[in-house]
Amino acid sequence: LNNGLALTPPMGWMSWERFRCIIDCQRFPDECISDRLFRTAADLLVSEGYAEAGYEYVIIDDCWLSKERDRNRRLQPDPERFPHGMKQLASYIHGKGLKFGMYENCGPTTCEGYPGSINHLQLDAQTFADWDVDYVKFDGCYVDIKILDKGYPAFGYYLNKTGRPMVYSCSWPYYYVEKGKKPNMKKVSKHCNLWRNYYDIQDSWAVVQAIIKWFGENHYEIDQYAGPGHWNDPDMLIIGNYGLSLDQSKTQMAIWAILAAPLIMSNDLRTIRPEFKDILLNREIIAINQDVLGIQGRRVKKEKDISVWIRPVTPVGYTHSYAVALASNRVHGDPYIYSVKLNEIGLINPAGYKFKDLYGDKECILYPHQNLTVRINPSGKHFCKVTLVRVDFKLKSS
Ligand code: GLA
Repeated sequence: LNNGLALTPPMGWMSWERFRCIIDCQRFPDECISDRLFRTAADLLVSEGYAEAGYEYVIIDDCWLSKERDRNRRLQPDPERFPHGMKQLASYIHGKGLKFGMYENCGPTTCEGYPGSINHLQLDAQTFADWDVDYVKFDGCYVDIKILDKGYPAFGYYLNKTGRPMVYSCSWPYYYVEKGKKPNMKKVSKHCNLWRNYYDIQDSWAVVQAIIKWFGENHYEIDQYAGPGHWNDPDMLIIGNYGLSLDQSKTQMAIWAILAAPLIMSNDLRTIRPEFKDILLNREIIAINQDVLGIQGRRVKKEKDISVWIRPVTPVGYTHSYAVALASNRVHGDPYIYSVKLNEIGLINPAGYKFKDLYGDKECILYPHQNLTVRINPSGKHFCKVTLVRVDFKLKSS
């Protein structure tokens, strides 16, 4: 969507994957979907250094609404969990130098059964603008895809008509893929800033692997639609939760960087362990994710349960520079030695390349006819380790 927003993949924090639809604030005061949860997230994004690293959107997902619209048919938040209303929450988040995102659904109700937008598209877009919202995630539960084909462009039109710049996140193509159909990606990228392509992420390595596999296999259908202002979205980062080991978390971060994916964390910033936080704050990896060329990378090789992923990045010279990720699904216990010739994966600059390991500090220089050799550690019960390297073409002078 050409609205001047999301020129690099959006970064932020969203409640869904970790906090879902916890609404019992009596029993779970620290976890329920409430004003307090989002103020705390905003506080921690700033105080723990995430904001400085680029994470800027605080996004409320489902379960924030009151079960009824108000007398004027306007959306209203649950009065007990959001006693100060949304405009005040927005103002608190803005006061921290952050941006504010919200969730709605194109159907009659949200996925969790709260009032949906289908019959109030213009009113709801205006309500979000009135609340100083900066980002809207618009879901597509419980409606025919024919309705989504009309509803997504219409809601985008009304968002734009409010005059308030709002990033528009769509789930539109996912509802095609779910039914085994092909979405019209050209249309989706024209109307949305980002869009969910595939099933929901869950707190599970198997689900992360399935998402990675889908993006590896289907890149030719989608990667041309990624670029400044419009991004494919493999869903939230779940790093720091219950399901992923350290190595698996490194894999998620690396592949999301290669895919130019939105980096929207959904985790508990109060309890995240430092080694997981370090992954989320790895500046060199974030820089690859946010590379200004906005070219989505792809899987270029898969053999022996090792996949090789490449993304062209700046600086550009005789060839691009690249980010290269090697991910393993091997289940053997010993660290695996894997080699691949540079010219086999498209690295053909005769002047060679400087490699730097982004999860370590090793550097080396290699030429197109030489092998990149890595030792990929299995670890934890899922045995996965990724190596992400930044490959700068070697300048003559260096
Ligand atoms: C769908 C979306 C999720 C989340 C839930 C909320 O499943 O894909 O990301 O927003 O709805 O109910």
